[in-house]
Amino acid sequence: FGEAEASRKEKEIANVAHRGASGYAPENTIAAFDLAVAMGADYIEIDVQRSKDGKLVILHDTTVDRTTDGTGKVGDLDFKELRQLDAGSWKGEEFAGEKIPSFDEVLDRYKGKIGILIELKAPELYPGIEKQMTKALKKRKMDKPKREEIIVQSFNFESMKLANKLLPRMPIGVLTSSSNDVSDEALKAFRKYADYFNPSIGLVNEELVKKVRKNKMKIQSWTVRTPEAAQFLKEMKVDGIISDYPDYVY
Ligand code: G3P
Ligand code: CA
Repeated sequence: FGEAEASRKEKEIANVAHRGASGYAPENTIAAFDLAVAMGADYIEIDVQRSKDGKLVILHDTTVDRTTDGTGKVGDLDFKELRQLDAGSWKGEEFAGEKIPSFDEVLDRYKGKIGILIELKAPELYPGIEKQMTKALKKRKMDKPKREEIIVQSFNFESMKLANKLLPRMPIGVLTSSSNDVSDEALKAFRKYADYFNPSIGLVNEELVKKVRKNKMKIQSWTVRTPEAAQFLKEMKVDGIISDYPDYVY
């Protein structure tokens, strides 16, 4: 997000690496995030949850079963236990030893290097997580992004209303895959606290893109896993494409 780069990219579609470059490296690990940087993505998308002892960590599922060699709920394991898990091998032996990153680590490592699309994953399981995220962002002066280099989003709309109160200068996004959320009425309600309406690709058509813009929001869509899906979203002229494969979005 250098100045020249920012003004160039503002006019283009943001290339958002979903859970990092997760088509090529284990999702939500430093390997996947570093690869997204190397591939020239504009943002990494990260899923934030909380350990039993209160540390914010990056993992998609609410259990560790699918993407690590452990079992159990994220919120039932201490940070030390989570850190001992292998979060890479499931994707390929070359990734053995990749760890579940902490939120602090990701903010420190990628601040100023790449945008971060922060998803609060199942925040209803982690009361107070919005405040905790706010504290971590403020500590690093990342709470007032000048060029939307940080965005906060969730499927939990109440959580995003709260995030908007705690972080009034932060771009906020609502995530949905429900056709109930695309009505004019629904969009009007979202725009009171959200800057982004981020639907699953199945909901996207020209009319929706128009409606979102009429409601003064931007639109980023997910999840792209084929070149054809990327092409479709380019034609729809969305503001951001959230893809496992950053190279499909160029
Ligand atoms: O950023 C959008 C996308 O990540 C939402 O779905 O399940 O991959 O977190 P999910
Ligand atoms: Ca996500």
